[in-house]
Amino acid sequence: MIILRSRAEIEKIKTSCLIVAEILDLLLEHIMPGITTWELNAISEELASKKHAKPAFKGYQGYPFALCASVNEEVVHGMPSKHRRLKEGDIISLDFGVVLDGYYGDCAVTAPVGEIAEEAARLCAVTEECLYVGISQAISGNRLSDISHAIQDYVEARGYSVVREFVGHGIGQHLHESPQIPNYGPPGKGVRLKPGMVLAVEPMINAGGPDVEILEDQWTAVTRDRKLSAHFEHTIAITEDGPQVLTRRETALQ
Ligand code: MF3
Ligand code: CO
Repeated sequence: MIILRSRAEIEKIKTSCLIVAEILDLLLEHIMPGITTWELNAISEELASKKHAKPAFKGYQGYPFALCASVNEEVVHGMPSKHRRLKEGDIISLDFGVVLDGYYGDCAVTAPVGEIAEEAARLCAVTEECLYVGISQAISGNRLSDISHAIQDYVEARGYSVVREFVGHGIGQHLHESPQIPNYGPPGKGVRLKPGMVLAVEPMINAGGPDVEILEDQWTAVTRDRKLSAHFEHTIAITEDGPQVLTRRETALQ
């Protein structure tokens, strides 16, 4: 069952989403050679507490941090570490969520550390683009897998691959609600999209093959071939007027 949210509920989700967007923007200002992912996590906690919001990931299924910080071949769920110091040329995916007044927001972005190689920049660009390509299919009357298919199509046409093991999700009063939203698949399948649905769309895109493995810490997902991976995520609401991106200050689809 997919919950249809009222305008008032969507406003509450949006409040959380805007806090997440602002915190990610502030974290991005700290992305530079020399900073550790541990420090980034600490900053994210401090910023959330200033906003009286609770980090959504900390304690979720035992995950011990507020922030996921995934560097280079790390796909998602990178665990902040005092030993992971960013260096020029890295790319880092920051994934953050909060809950405020019972409603969740979730967003992720991949950013360059200093000057990065052209292939790394292209992977990040294509991953962000495919998120918007997917979101543009999130319109009333389409089916769920129209989002999935659009993402896969866009990515594979550009020589990259889509991670299968992790998917997007409904979001609202829980971090993860129905439905699951794969970033691959045939078009025209799954539930019909309706105004009031709130979805976290989050493609994870690999420069090499699609396979991932989980490191010994039981959380960090890395590419099997150790090539680069990028991740972008927005929480969106489906409205009568099309998709509304909640985790961004201006909400019109570009
Ligand atoms: N954005 C990710 C997701 O929606 C982050 C979850 S990390 C976890 O699944 F630690 F909370 F699991
Ligand atoms: Co998510």
